[in-house]
Amino acid sequence: MEETAVNNSASSSELKYQIQLNELEATMLDLKVKVDDLTKENGQLKRENNQLKRMPLFVAVVVDILENGEIYLRQQGNNQEYLTHAPEDLRPLLKPGAKVAVNNALSIVKVIGNIYDSRVRVMELVDKPQETYADIGGLTDVIREVREAVEYPLTNPQIYANVGVEPPKGVLLFGAPGTGKTLIAKAVAHEARAKFIRMSGSELVHKFIGEGAGLVRELFQLAREHDKAIIFIDEIDAVGSMRTNDGTSGSAEVQRTLMQLLAEMDGFDNRGNVRIMAATNRADMLDPALLRPGRFDRLIEIPLPDKDARLQILKIHSRKMHLADVDFESIAAKAENSTGAELESICREAGMMAVRREGERVEMADFAAAVRKVKNEAVAENRMYT
Ligand SMILES: Nc1ncnc2c1ncn2[C@@H]1O[C@H](COP(=O)(O)OP(=O)(O)O)[C@@H](O)[C@H]1O
Ligand SMILES: [Mg+2]
Repeated sequence: MEETAVNNSASSSELKYQIQLNELEATMLDLKVKVDDLTKENGQLKRENNQLKRMPLFVAVVVDILENGEIYLRQQGNNQEYLTHAPEDLRPLLKPGAKVAVNNALSIVKVIGNIYDSRVRVMELVDKPQETYADIGGLTDVIREVREAVEYPLTNPQIYANVGVEPPKGVLLFGAPGTGKTLIAKAVAHEARAKFIRMSGSELVHKFIGEGAGLVRELFQLAREHDKAIIFIDEIDAVGSMRTNDGTSGSAEVQRTLMQLLAEMDGFDNRGNVRIMAATNRADMLDPALLRPGRFDRLIEIPLPDKDARLQILKIHSRKMHLADVDFESIAAKAENSTGAELESICREAGMMAVRREGERVEMADFAAAVRKVKNEAVAENRMYT
């Protein structure tokens, strides 16, 4: 009797456990279903999140970091300005001039780099170039014109104001390569004690694809930051050639760069402290839009040096040499059709000849040999030479 009771109670508690077990198993099944659902939802959210992260980002530049930690940004392209916050981990990377990516809530997502990077890569900045007018042989008329158009507006703006005329806005130097265009621009900057900022049109177009217009804007911005500056756009034909209208993206990019340049020039006060110079080998190739009044409105041709100028240039580039009795007149006559750069290499070569034969002085024979060598090189380069 007692045994049965025990058996009975055993089987009843077994039953109880069985029921509990079933219940737990059911709960587990429920939870499994829930886990499955949540995993699915999680995947979905992850995808949405990635989607959001992949949303196009805007590029902006940090203008300032305010005391309360807010970041003052300027958006590139439309120049809109706004205040925003930055995530803690990005803070130390932010300083004025940093380029950042912002999402469409205008929060900073990442730091791209420093805006000055690209400036440094494309722009040559010289505080005050060493070259002076005394380093230029010949070109007396050119120097006079450049002084009037570029130097005096910087050093004596009063002259223009008194007479009530506007100085030309842009000065375009054109002439064969090596005739001294860059040299003149540097010498003017030296004499005017101005910052010299050089940008090469061909580098702008070929090396910095997609950045051209932005870099032009930065070029002018950089110039404005200085007390006195001369902007020198070398090889301007690379950005400003006659429109091709072939519809390729390359030329669309060049067009955008040119448009930006024109806009910058139009927005420029020609009485200000920034003068604009440009150089090209081919003035006839330039887009007429560049040559309109208020843009490059003063064209100055840089000719090949005549005999007198060649003589001067030879003397300039040999002035540090120990010379024997050298008849420069005759060398200048022999070096007909040479550019200033070629005359410079004639001097350098003559010096090298003397070094090679371990001479004490550079002699006439060294110069004669140097003329032949440099002429042959010019012929080998398939250039016109008589
Ligand atoms: N008229 C000149 N007088 C003295 N040196 C010259 C002259 N023209 C050119 N040179 C020399 O040739 C170098 C190259 O000239 P550069 O000014 O770069 O020519 P461009 O810009 O017209 O191609 C100069 O740095 C200078 O040494
Ligand atoms: Mg040059």
